[in-house]
Parts: sequence; C-alpha cells; structure tokens
Amino acid sequence: MQTQSITTDAVRIRWAIRSDIDAILRIDGQTSRPWLCAEYTRSRRENIQCVAETQEQVVGFVAYSLFRRKYRIDRLAVDAGHRRTGVASRLISHMKEKLSPATRNRLVFDVADDLLEMHLFLKSQGFLASPRGEVIRFEFFV
Ligand SMILES: CC(C)(COP(=O)(O)OP(=O)(O)OC[C@H]1O[C@@H](n2cnc3c(N)ncnc32)[C@H](O)[C@@H]1OP(=O)(O)O)[C@@H](O)C(=O)NCCC(=O)NCCS
Repeated sequence: MQTQSITTDAVRIRWAIRSDIDAILRIDGQTSRPWLCAEYTRSRRENIQCVAETQEQVVGFVAYSLFRRKYRIDRLAVDAGHRRTGVASRLISHMKEKLSPATRNRLVFDVADDLLEMHLFLKSQGFLASPRGEVIRFEFFV
C-alpha cells in the first residue's frame, strides 16, 4: 500500500457516525489483533468513537470511555497507508484537549505488552508506562 503524505492540519477529528463502521472495521482489521464482531458491537454500544478524516476519507479512529476522573482509551488505530503522517498524534491531541485538572485529568490506555509500535507512539506523546500483568498501562496527566 502506498503511503500518502498529508499534513497534520489536513486531518479533521469528528464523532463517528453509522456510515463510518466499514472504514473503522477495515482499519481495525489491519491491526495484529482485530476486534471480534462482538467486541466491536460492544464498543459501539459502550464507548465513544471518534474518527480522523482527511480528504473525506476515514484514516484512523479512537474509541474511549468516560470515568469520573479519567478517560480510558480502549482502541486506537490508523490506516496502514497513512501511518507516520501524524494521524494518531492528532487523535491523541484531541483527547488531551479534553483534559482539565479540575475534572478528568488523565488519559489511561492499557496496551498489550507485545504491541511495540503503540508503546513507542505513546511514549512519543508524553505518556508514562508501567507494567500491569500482561498489559502495559500508559498514562498521561495534566
Ligand atoms: C501506533 C499507531 C497508532 C501510530 O499511528 P501513526 O499515525 O502512524 O502515528 P504518528 O504518525 O502520529 O506518529 C507520531 C510519532 O510516534 C512514534 N511512532 C509512531 N509509530 C511508530 C513506529 N511504528 N515505530 C517507532 N515509532 C513510532 C514516532 O516518534 C512518530 O513520530 P515520527 O513519525 O516523526 O518519527 C499506528 O501504527 C497503528 O495504528 N498501529 C496499530 C495499532 C493497533 O494494533 N491498534 C489496536 C489495539 S489498540
């Protein structure tokens, strides 16, 4: 797949809508452990999903849950042909903009311990890592 060069400014983040389902599942299907159908259905019901769009094409998404003092990121993936162009950085910036010391002051993301590219990405975004059994917990605080 050819990697396209896009500028971060050209990436728009918005809520996912029903017509994004195919694009989200296509992108998720490119990951090493794609969502099972039931997991995706549960995520649609229980999580908030946002997509990253460029030139009207969905190129990444994030699924997250709200808690009293934190946002928990449940899933994050970028289309294989658009990686290393800043798409996931835009999705994480979008999440960081929601943080406030007085309300929800951190992002938490538990990542499988073998998902090295995600570890390196999250470290590049200022997340701190700590091992939790079979996952690594990544946290970002304000
Ligand atoms: C990890 C992932 C989200 C990164 O998305 P991305 O849009 O390519 O990330 P960005 O372009 O914003 O990268 C920002 C920085 O993160 C780091 N980074 C990102 N991917 C990296 C990789 N594969 N190796 C090393 N560093 C990486 C780099 O420092 C990069 O900056 P640079 O390109 O200037 O060097 C993407 O590779 C992906 O979707 N992987 C599959 C994730 C997955 O399995 N999700 C399901 C479980 S949650």
